[in-house]
Amino acid sequence: MAGLKRLEYRGYDSAGVALPADGGLAAAKKAGKLVNLEKELVERPLPAGSTGIGHTRWATHGGPTDGNAHPHLDNAGRVAVVHNGIIENFALLRAELAERGHELNSETDTEVVAHLLAEEYSVTGDPAESMRLVCRRLEGAFTLVAVHADAPDVVVGARRNSPLVVGVGEGEAFLASDVAAFIAHTRSAIELGQDQVVELRRDGVTVTGFDGLPAEVHSYHVDWDASAAEKDGYDYFMLKEIAEQPKAVADTLLGRIDPSGSLTLDELRITPADLRQIDKVVIVACGTAFHAGLIAKYAIEHWTRIPCEVELASEFRYRDPILGGRSLVIAISQSGETMDTLMALRHAREQGSKVLAICNTNGSTIPRESDAVLYTHAGPEVAVASTKAFLTQLVACYLVALYLCQVRGTKWGDEIQAVIKDLSRISDEVERVLETMEPVRALARTLAGKDTVLFLGRHVGYPVALEGALKLKELAYMHAEGFAAGELKHGPIALIEEDMPVVVVVPSPSNRSLLHDKIVSNIQEIRARGARTIVIAEEGDEAVVPYADHLIRIPVTPTLLQPVVATVPLQVFACELAAARGNEVDQPRNLAKSVTVE
Ligand code: G6P
Repeated sequence: MAGLKRLEYRGYDSAGVALPADGGLAAAKKAGKLVNLEKELVERPLPAGSTGIGHTRWATHGGPTDGNAHPHLDNAGRVAVVHNGIIENFALLRAELAERGHELNSETDTEVVAHLLAEEYSVTGDPAESMRLVCRRLEGAFTLVAVHADAPDVVVGARRNSPLVVGVGEGEAFLASDVAAFIAHTRSAIELGQDQVVELRRDGVTVTGFDGLPAEVHSYHVDWDASAAEKDGYDYFMLKEIAEQPKAVADTLLGRIDPSGSLTLDELRITPADLRQIDKVVIVACGTAFHAGLIAKYAIEHWTRIPCEVELASEFRYRDPILGGRSLVIAISQSGETMDTLMALRHAREQGSKVLAICNTNGSTIPRESDAVLYTHAGPEVAVASTKAFLTQLVACYLVALYLCQVRGTKWGDEIQAVIKDLSRISDEVERVLETMEPVRALARTLAGKDTVLFLGRHVGYPVALEGALKLKELAYMHAEGFAAGELKHGPIALIEEDMPVVVVVPSPSNRSLLHDKIVSNIQEIRARGARTIVIAEEGDEAVVPYADHLIRIPVTPTLLQPVVATVPLQVFACELAAARGNEVDQPRNLAKSVTVE
């Protein structure tokens, strides 16, 4: 249960456990959050066992009911299985099973696996071999973990596309989607590769391919401990993670900028010669990571003069993008497991492009399948809405852009040196923003009754506005939209009503003052139509004062780096508004932190 709790962020619409005990299998499952299962287990405790499986679900096939919750058992109740992913040929398998007399009771794609495993086990008497035989018949993405009443000391797992890691303790072993589930017991882990089956026994772990051949095993040490995934006295993980941002940003920069101002990114594994060849950068990502990509485009194109496209990973491969050996594809992902992003990067590699992953999770699938990786060092992010991972993704993107300048040469030599200096100080600026957030909290609470909040920005402030709106949708379940401020007059301005809150992210007045003047005009336009303006502007920017109903100050920062500081008040704003509306801040409805289906 403690392990499931740590994984609840991955899905929380139902949960269940099963364990071999007393010669049979004991199971319990409940729709809703884990706490429902906890209650059930207190009221009707399961007998003790020494192996077991558990699952917390984010529904794909079949709604979140007790019946559809995992584990699923075969008709005789001898095999129990939990599953992440989607089995694409389940309808066919289900029909075959029904023909052979099996009775399938749930609407899930998972149940077929329990029945198939039972059939194979009756022939082989070997849980791992049964799993291999079944996996060879499945199409789609899946992580499967099973226990058998007849082999109570064994747990078998299988992995294709969805994540699965092994924890190796002393006289005990663990399987989970994420090391967080077993970090309290062991920091020694094994990555499972594609199409591998693992057999766990008290005395050891055996890994084979789906073909039965022994697999090469890659072990690693997890470099954080259980305390990193605790709330530490904060009401929500999100608040803790917002507060951790200065450290996350500093850790991501650590060791990458040397005192002379040059960058060292040895870990990139792409040679400077290859980087000099690049004629196009394409960024693929989802959700918040996509917004980091949108911001990165401004920096990459301005500093390196290499054309840069940013695309939603879920759209990418379906539109036949133009890629080649000289394209650099950057896949940004906190979890490293987002299926849409994984599929996009595979497509890019098939087209001969090099893929660089920007990722926060060591050993996860996306960096492993990429040509190169730059890790963000945000530490574990538990709240579903991404905060510290986003800031570190921005920092990593800047580093990549600046490194491209360094290896290729750029006409912006002085500007680049100045930016590197500013970047190395940016975590202090984030700290300063955090110190001034009380008025933002107070303002958010007064807006809890509103239906709509709009967000406007120009230049890099535009993706910041999109991110502010996404946070509010995710957490407060409010209608929130981000717009390019210049686009307002082409349609969205029709939405403005009396006293509607509109958040405006204002670029620095110091450089690109044209940009600044334009947005000041935009603020006046919306205010003239009754909007309540919430203005995020640099310290010392006096031009906005007459038009700001609420003014949120951020430190003076070069325009391209401004998103690192400007996003923070928007995170705090969304978190506080969600709490004021009585929502579950860390686990918003319908969402999951790591979406391992397409
Ligand atoms: C999910 C989460 C988002 C996240 C996105 C991408 O949809 O709810 O918060 O931004 O996935 O996740 P990734 O792990 O690839 O950064």
